[in-house]
Amino acid sequence: MNSNQFGKRGWTPDRIEPLNGKIFVVTGTTSGTGFEATKILLSKGAKVVMLNRNKKKAEHTIHILKQELGNQIEVLAINMDLADQVSVKKAAEDVLKVVPKIDALICNAAIAQVPQQKLTVDGWESQMGTNYYGNWTLQALLYPLIEKSKGRIVTVGSLGYDMGIKTIKFDDLNWDKDYSPNDAYSQSKLAQIMSIYELQNRLKKAGKNNVKAYACHPGSSRTNLINTSGSFMMKFIFNLMKLSPLTQSAEKGAYPQLMCATEPDLDQSGFYGPTGRSNWVGPVGAHEIKPHAKNKTTAKRLWELSEKETGVTWNF
Ligand SMILES: NC(=O)c1ccc[n+]([C@@H]2O[C@H](COP(=O)([O-])OP(=O)(O)OC[C@H]3O[C@@H](n4cnc5c(N)ncnc54)[C@H](OP(=O)(O)O)[C@@H]3O)[C@@H](O)[C@H]2O)c1
Repeated sequence: MNSNQFGKRGWTPDRIEPLNGKIFVVTGTTSGTGFEATKILLSKGAKVVMLNRNKKKAEHTIHILKQELGNQIEVLAINMDLADQVSVKKAAEDVLKVVPKIDALICNAAIAQVPQQKLTVDGWESQMGTNYYGNWTLQALLYPLIEKSKGRIVTVGSLGYDMGIKTIKFDDLNWDKDYSPNDAYSQSKLAQIMSIYELQNRLKKAGKNNVKAYACHPGSSRTNLINTSGSFMMKFIFNLMKLSPLTQSAEKGAYPQLMCATEPDLDQSGFYGPTGRSNWVGPVGAHEIKPHAKNKTTAKRLWELSEKETGVTWNF
């Protein structure tokens, strides 16, 4: 195993300096790693804008956070359904109205292992539409403020990037021919990761070095992910796995995204997550990423397709 730049215990939130005056925008904070990341950011004094699809759950989350951390925390909720481009655009507008800067946008929300092919209102396969196109549009629309703030864009990917067909199925992006929950989820997470490295390339070409972009993943963490969108069988398997040492707490699963959002001078070319067994658990740090995730030809084609599909372009 490579030595971890943060020592034997890996990166932990002890490294985060006080965050008073800093503003973070986090998607999907009603459970799992997004909730834990938000809690830690708030506990360090940051302000957090939470973007969630369920207003009631978001209100309940604020209630819990205040109960645990006190009424002084600065947290607010904006409604956003990543599966609906109109909602994402409206949320981005709302964010720009309420914050003067963004130190980091953490794209954490996702669905996984959707049993049958479903399309979003915009006509994309549900995981690609939610996890990829939703985040794509949000990032592009918030980019100008992130740039002005010298901020960061953090994408929470998955080891799934390496479990499907390991490329983008451009000739059948919606899996009309042979839908499989795992392949479709894996493609959406690969697309998310690829677009971060492509964003780095484009920022470099445009001579923009104010924004940093990072890709990470939470390993195998005990969250609601499969319970929310997976099949009965996947829920059964994942809930059994939760009892084994092959999974870790949601809090630990939040460390990679927190590291990417706050650690000074972190190398953008890295891929960050647990470095223990199979990269599912263990000390957090950089670890290997397979070359297909950094394939420039595929990434460029995906970027151009995304601009066409969403009608959104990045204002570099
Ligand atoms: N847990 C793991 O082992 C694992 C492994 C690899 C990667 N990941 C990644 O980790 C990230 C966090 O997931 P998690 O494991 O913490 O799962 P989680 O507990 O299910 O949390 C996912 C969050 O995303 C939100 N969300 C889902 N669909 C949304 C939409 N259309 N619009 C807005 N928000 C939406 C959920 O909201 P609701 O409460 O409304 O459902 C929830 O707040 C995801 O990107 C996931 O792909 C997790």
